[in-house]
Amino acid sequence: MVDFDRLTDRRGTDCLKYDFAAERGYPAEVLPFWVADMDFPAPEPVVKALEQRARHGIFGYTDIKEDYREILARWFQRRHGWQIEGEWLSITPGVVFGICTAIRAFTQPGEGVLICPPVYYPFAASIKANGRKLVESPLVEKDGRYEVDFQDFERKIVEGGVKLFVLCSPHNPVGRVWSRQELEQVAAICQKHQVLVVADEIHQDFVRPGHKHTVFASLGAEVADFTITCTSPSKTFNLAGLQISHIFISNESLRRRFRHELEAVGYGEPNAMAEVAAKAAYSQGEPWLTELLAYLEENLRRTRAFLAEQLPQVQLIEPEGTYLLWLDCRGTGFSPEEQEKAIVQRGRIWLDEGRIFGAGGEGFQRINMACPWAILEEGLKRLAFALKK
Ligand SMILES: Cc1ncc(COP(=O)(O)O)c(C=O)c1O
Repeated sequence: MVDFDRLTDRRGTDCLKYDFAAERGYPAEVLPFWVADMDFPAPEPVVKALEQRARHGIFGYTDIKEDYREILARWFQRRHGWQIEGEWLSITPGVVFGICTAIRAFTQPGEGVLICPPVYYPFAASIKANGRKLVESPLVEKDGRYEVDFQDFERKIVEGGVKLFVLCSPHNPVGRVWSRQELEQVAAICQKHQVLVVADEIHQDFVRPGHKHTVFASLGAEVADFTITCTSPSKTFNLAGLQISHIFISNESLRRRFRHELEAVGYGEPNAMAEVAAKAAYSQGEPWLTELLAYLEENLRRTRAFLAEQLPQVQLIEPEGTYLLWLDCRGTGFSPEEQEKAIVQRGRIWLDEGRIFGAGGEGFQRINMACPWAILEEGLKRLAFALKK
């Protein structure tokens, strides 16, 4: 049994979550629940493999071999029923790096790239930073559940001259695990208008009981033909700082263009430690993940109960996946500015303010529940203290 209740002090490790509050304009002692990494050590076999590799002492240039591709293939087949071929794989230091590479490889400056806000904010930043036109089709919320507005989605593609759509599946921050039917609708519209799809599936291993993640490219060979699938062990096994992600492209011509762009920015082989960690994680980390998902389910249950009892004016958007909770705080009577101030100054906690996720995010807060319950409970108490009038 993994002890997910165990507290691990992350302060002093130069981690973004705990050690950079002051640099980012927050009180130094603030309790953080913003960035999407977990306050849990990686699976023991990963730590052991890294220790062993570190002991070797030589950290020269490294690359992946066939066994690495086979380990990944087994994972995706077993967990997601998706059959990959080794040659589809390109490695990048991160999924955002992969998305930016795709934007540069497949679109021209000024061309439209579509997203569905509220969504992970680096999507918009990546599009703008590369001088492409940001086109948005906001999700619509119906009784606490978000959906794609397919009419608007298609209209924005046509009117915005969209060449590429960045799909977030499962969707951060609203927690949707898109159904097969919804994804098929997205695919049909994108195929009709010759829009390439970058499917960011980094949260694919965090799916709640009763829901099923469908790999977008697994909808069929003709869908895979216009899809760039972005995955990573960084969320699943908490390895973000090691920087490795896996980008799958079955269409040979798209793959060639993607790799050309990687070459153009000078990226070659993966980080030696990340290679070791990813291999150990995907081959030996599954029992840990099973226990983790059960722990997160319990954190969610306790959070739901806490909010209902202590903070009924805040509505939890019931997540279907991810470990990020999307809280509707519009019923607190605070303006979004007052809300943010109360949370930081009075509550002494650091969440991700809904506004930064784009259209429809104002008045919401995103809280990361992937931490020992004792920390999460303290955060929720502080939130309740901050938001009570
Ligand atoms: C949807 C989504 N994509 C990408 C990332 C970051 O990926 P990477 O660190 O590999 O760039 C995150 C992290 O929170 C995320 O939520």
